[in-house]
Amino acid sequence: MDKSIEIDPVYYDHGRDDYIDSDFASETTSLSSSIYRGVFENGRRYQTVREGASWFPSDEQQFESLEAAHLLCILLDANTENPLYQAPLKDPKQILDIGTGRGNWAIDVADIFPNATVRGVDLFPPPGEWLPPNCIMEVDDVLQEWTWRQSFDLIHMRQLIGAFTPVEWDLLFAQCYKNLIPGGWIEQIEGDPRIQCSDSSMSPESSMVQFTQAVFLAGQEWNHPLDTLDTMRTAMEKAGFVDIHEKTYRWPVGPWARDPTLKEAGRLHYHQWTAGMEGWGMYLLTKFGVPRPWAKEEVLVLLAKVRKELQDPHIHMWQYARRVWGRKPTAEEQEEKEKEKEKEKEEVKVKSEEVDAKH
Ligand SMILES: C[S@@+](CC[C@H](N)C(=O)[O-])C[C@H]1O[C@@H](n2cnc3c(N)ncnc32)[C@H](O)[C@@H]1O
Repeated sequence: MDKSIEIDPVYYDHGRDDYIDSDFASETTSLSSSIYRGVFENGRRYQTVREGASWFPSDEQQFESLEAAHLLCILLDANTENPLYQAPLKDPKQILDIGTGRGNWAIDVADIFPNATVRGVDLFPPPGEWLPPNCIMEVDDVLQEWTWRQSFDLIHMRQLIGAFTPVEWDLLFAQCYKNLIPGGWIEQIEGDPRIQCSDSSMSPESSMVQFTQAVFLAGQEWNHPLDTLDTMRTAMEKAGFVDIHEKTYRWPVGPWARDPTLKEAGRLHYHQWTAGMEGWGMYLLTKFGVPRPWAKEEVLVLLAKVRKELQDPHIHMWQYARRVWGRKPTAEEQEEKEKEKEKEKEEVKVKSEEVDAKH
């Protein structure tokens, strides 16, 4: 595991007991307005394709959080050849982004690969008014049988944490496998909802710990576990993917890190948090809160306390994130595997015949 994030000791306003640079803490207004209706609950908008299919609000506030997360992911891979994905694909032609949300990733990938066709699919239509001509946004439920006619070179997923039950994840990875060309790549990046702190600056009784634990438990209660970053690699292996790689990140919450890149990452992640946390908590806690579902007001009261902690520069919170990418075997590799299986079957048959002959 990488070493701890070093803390910037001069990043406090001692007079105000606050961050010196408070710009990052201002919550900007909505990025765009949407013409799509959805269904409203507890003041948030949700998709209507399949009732109860997603706990994730599809509204301006949540899209804003996604935008910050998009920039955060790019920033932390800015030193790599392609910060949008790590799979070694130089000239992809058919790309699919599952659960595209606001569509940031699909749009950026379409921009850098003008000869590729990039499809973003989600239960809710992305709000963008302009799309690159090679980017197509579709509204669909990826748990249904896929109807795309072409196979993909690359299938991408980001922040689909808790979107599916373990059985549904297996089905989804099997669909991905089936719909990739031989040698095609799958890539997924997920954040960990559990909060970390490497010193004593965050109390185990803090509102942040309470909130993240409550949300984590609610995910378990619903059988949509939120530890997707820990399970996705095994799920890929189970589906048949090979040549699997992974990269782990630490996302600081707030600009408390000394390193300039991590400081910027902390600003972005802070925005992801402040815009996103109500959406992360509201659906799960009001429906699957443990030991009983919470009232909307209870969620809001706890979030007000979390917000205060987020603004405290003395608390050095961070979260893990992980990116995993793997390949569907090539046609030759698949053939080789089939031959091996046949050989094993033959060996078992010969052995059992020998045993039968002895008796
Ligand atoms: C946290 S958002 C991630 C958005 C985007 N991948 C990003 O990183 O900006 C999760 C998205 O998955 C979508 N989603 C959940 N279940 C889905 C399903 N069964 N089919 C298609 N999209 C789904 C949700 O509507 C939501 O927009």
